[in-house]
Amino acid sequence: MAFYSEKVMDHFLNPRNVGEIPDADGTGEVGNPVCGDLMTFYIKVKDNVITDVKFKTFGCGAAIAVSSMVSEMAVGKTLEEAMKITNESVADNLGGLPPNKMHCSNLGADALHAAIENYKNKKSA
Ligand code: FES
Repeated sequence: MAFYSEKVMDHFLNPRNVGEIPDADGTGEVGNPVCGDLMTFYIKVKDNVITDVKFKTFGCGAAIAVSSMVSEMAVGKTLEEAMKITNESVADNLGGLPPNKMHCSNLGADALHAAIENYKNKKSA
């Protein structure tokens, strides 16, 4: 049986920044090959800083908690700082995830990074 930290439960039950940004500057969608769950991140960027993050996650409780934590960690960071958010640092900030749920943390940082890449591609297009 898996045990979740209080922080995971909090972010699962009260996820921050759920939703969509219709005029997002960048969007990133990733799927988890392990379970087929999906996560989409939307970001707004101003002067190289992430000013807003929203996400939609079709996934398990851990994936929802991870998305919520990633969104909180990313707001206010420069694009370079946000690229340094790792799956491990997200899990650490959540007080750890049960070993059999670590794969769920893979989506969060990846989806954020995909949104940043999308923003950069759009800008250079
Ligand atoms: Fe799919 Fe957790 S079981 S992300």
